[in-house]
Amino acid sequence: MILFAPKKGFGLDISDASIEALELEKVSKEIKVKSYGRIEIPEKKLIEDGLIKNKEALVKSIKEVLEKTEPEKIKTRYVLLSLPESKVLTHIFELPINLTLDQIKEVLSYEIESIFPYPANELSIDFKVVSKKDKTQEIFLAGIPKKIVNDYKEVLEKSGLIPLVFDMESKSLARALIEKIEKNKAVIILDIGARTSIISVFDEVGLRFTTNLKIAGNLFTQKISQNLNLLFDEAEKLKIKEGFSSEKFGQILKNEAKPICQEIKKVIEYTERKYNFKIEKIILAGGSSLLPKIEEYFQLETGLLTERGNPLTKLSKDNILSKKEKNILFANVIGLALRALEKDPIKVDINLLQS
Ligand SMILES: Nc1ncnc2c1ncn2[C@@H]1O[C@H](COP(=O)(O)OP(=O)(O)OP(=O)(O)O)[C@@H](O)[C@H]1O
Ligand SMILES: [Mg+2]
Repeated sequence: MILFAPKKGFGLDISDASIEALELEKVSKEIKVKSYGRIEIPEKKLIEDGLIKNKEALVKSIKEVLEKTEPEKIKTRYVLLSLPESKVLTHIFELPINLTLDQIKEVLSYEIESIFPYPANELSIDFKVVSKKDKTQEIFLAGIPKKIVNDYKEVLEKSGLIPLVFDMESKSLARALIEKIEKNKAVIILDIGARTSIISVFDEVGLRFTTNLKIAGNLFTQKISQNLNLLFDEAEKLKIKEGFSSEKFGQILKNEAKPICQEIKKVIEYTERKYNFKIEKIILAGGSSLLPKIEEYFQLETGLLTERGNPLTKLSKDNILSKKEKNILFANVIGLALRALEKDPIKVDINLLQS
């Protein structure tokens, strides 16, 4: 007898610049978008670099996006959120194969302060055993300051929601964008948003490495506006229209994006040596992946096949997002909503919401 139905929730992606909400449903074997919505946060400094600066205003914005979801309102109050990647710490390490989950927890309680630069009682952590060898097991560990977790929890609760999962952005993106990866192969997801770019590497086991830079779409627009003496909004429009193919400012974009390529090259070298795999391609995500000719630029600079991700591959063909050309903006929130459909969304992967 099932006493409690599994809690099913919807995905919520809160970033410095926008909020997306999305709920999926399974109809026989097909996964369909039930409801979705997105608002852009104007320059009100609600969130800066992932830290909530104005809780009341953020509650209002969350309620606003929930009001605006189409074609229907989201009815469940259970929510899966992704935490700001720039604030999440990760570490992969090995322990003897015979340790149980409880024993691993105990080891972590002693070791955590030597792994992450925070007092243990100030961190919310979670771990997963990601692979097993003859004598050792590999542990993926993630942590984030409790203060950040509590701030997001408070804002969600004040918005009338019940948090189930606090996921990592890189992981939820991968859930939407990556199909199975073969042994000894890997892919990079490069998420270029408004303020942050996240570079993450995945192999058959999952997330291997993630890092982020403060170079993204806003900086691109600022540089165009400075160089061409345009207002920010004018520069933004031009940027979106012409992108990397622009005769006037294509070179400016290339100069600004160059440090991202340099970081990618370092990441390739480091992770390929450490994990003995071959990185096969870069999958672009984030709003800035919509810039014309951006794929060509990253492919040329890094030498890796580069393509924009398709967040609809795991969804049924006929769904309300398929006609939206900017559906990459929903990739992360689709990944969260896909987790909500799992048998046990709370435990299936890293969950930094510790009750
Ligand atoms: N059609 C488009 N073409 C090019 N750039 C676009 C387009 N639409 C949005 N952008 C750019 O994408 C950026 C916003 O992307 P996204 O929504 O992924 O950011 P975010 O997740 O809200 O921010 P961050 O991750 O940096 O906190 C902005 O800089 C915007 O200029
Ligand atoms: Mg983002």
